[in-house]
Amino acid sequence: MGWPGQLHALNESQLPHRVRPYLNHAVSFKRPCSPQERIAALESVGLNVFFYPAELVSGCDLLSDSGTTAMTSAQWAALHLGDEAYGSNRGYFVVQAQVRETFGEEFFDQKPGQPANAFLFHQGRAAEDALFAQLGASSPGLIVPSNGHFDTTQANLEAHRIQPLNLFSPQLKEASSACHFKGDMDVHKLENLLEKHHPKIPLVYLTITNNTGGGQPVSMDNVSRVGALAHQFEIPLFLDACRFAENAYFIQRHEPGFAKRAIPEIVREMFSHADGFTISFKKDGLANMGGGLFVRRDGLFARKYPKLLDALTDYQIRKEGHPTYGGMSGRDILALAQGLKTVTEEPYLSYRVEQVASFGYAMAAQGLPVLTPFGGHAVYLDMNRFFADSPLQPADFGGVSFVALLLGAFGHRACELGHFAFGKYDTHAGKDVFPEVNFVRFAVPRLRYEQQDLQAVAEAAGALYQQRDRIPPVEVVWGRELPLRHFKARFRFRT
Ligand code: F0G
Repeated sequence: MGWPGQLHALNESQLPHRVRPYLNHAVSFKRPCSPQERIAALESVGLNVFFYPAELVSGCDLLSDSGTTAMTSAQWAALHLGDEAYGSNRGYFVVQAQVRETFGEEFFDQKPGQPANAFLFHQGRAAEDALFAQLGASSPGLIVPSNGHFDTTQANLEAHRIQPLNLFSPQLKEASSACHFKGDMDVHKLENLLEKHHPKIPLVYLTITNNTGGGQPVSMDNVSRVGALAHQFEIPLFLDACRFAENAYFIQRHEPGFAKRAIPEIVREMFSHADGFTISFKKDGLANMGGGLFVRRDGLFARKYPKLLDALTDYQIRKEGHPTYGGMSGRDILALAQGLKTVTEEPYLSYRVEQVASFGYAMAAQGLPVLTPFGGHAVYLDMNRFFADSPLQPADFGGVSFVALLLGAFGHRACELGHFAFGKYDTHAGKDVFPEVNFVRFAVPRLRYEQQDLQAVAEAAGALYQQRDRIPPVEVVWGRELPLRHFKARFRFRT
């Protein structure tokens, strides 16, 4: 029987709200706590939100999207099937098949008589350390350019005496949202650098999406041009692939020629340009733990540094564990392999990225100076614009103050990634050096919060923005000159 009247034309796409493509399987209740309790807890940790007890985050915890995913019931089921054998546990074969399927067979191609080319680590930064420890030891004075090194990547490079260099897209600084790929690398700067210094560059690194550069995606065009340019100088291309699926989604949505291509196919094409990649499975592995380093079998990296794969295996055995489990339990390996299946599925991925975007629009509706277009995992407030009409100076670290007030007053935890996190104190000159970007990041954990939770965060941030002239400076009471200082420093309000 047909539908009466015109009702057959009705469907959910005409309505303002979209239903989530998943439902709650288990929930945790938060512990209620008063602003007084939160403020006392914050002061007791010197306003450093990393040290603030998570149990007292009575609002939304948007400190990181890393390892904070609510796992699917299929992942919880996989955990129970974990095989904790010391050598060659079942999960190892499952993750091998999954990595081959998701990224390409040549990235996990284990054959007797050949060194390993796939390395499991307990998280992303351990994989970075492994890579840079080998490269740094191979020759002095190296430089690794990127579209935006993450803070641990930068710290790992520096720890191995390699100079990190960020070649941000010039469009990142523009307020317009017309450019969809502000995460791209500045290809002209790369070309100049390679022409002058190519012997000092062991690899070129592209972070997809560009977390330090406002969580912005990188276009396929940029991946392919950066790869081709690097290869012209016989330099391998590596991806920092933590948010590879979110990046692929933006390519599908916004890059000409990709609208009809399936996400798994776009992922394969992105990785077809790479000679290797590091990854934290705590992001687009939808897992709570896990990382890896994967090198293309017979790719430029493997050919250029023939001894390095075996040196990496030795490093892995010394620091993490046997290559068949790396730094992970068998159950964690199964959870991440299952997560990799879900993360490229259209209903999951489109809801995920759209949820972050509608959070961004809710922030913008409060008048907040958000970075647009919105990235895939977080909304970034531009603190230079936030404080543009306020007397606060960069060395007053207004972003740190704002984050502390948001947590104390409203119970929402965000993260300063700007003048303090990426700045440095030059002890010789006795002055601060400030970075190009100055953000506060609201990272949205995957599958964890509902739209009304994020709306409440936008309203709280908006209330503070209305009173920005009353946000006090902070003074650094400990750790101003330390490396990785945002994880360790302590502050107090200067009133
Ligand atoms: N690369 C990028 C782009 C990252 O965002 C991170 C972590 C890492 C590497 C390191 O991975 O945490 O598994 O060691 N980012 C988290 C964040 C911590 O909050 O953005 P890890």
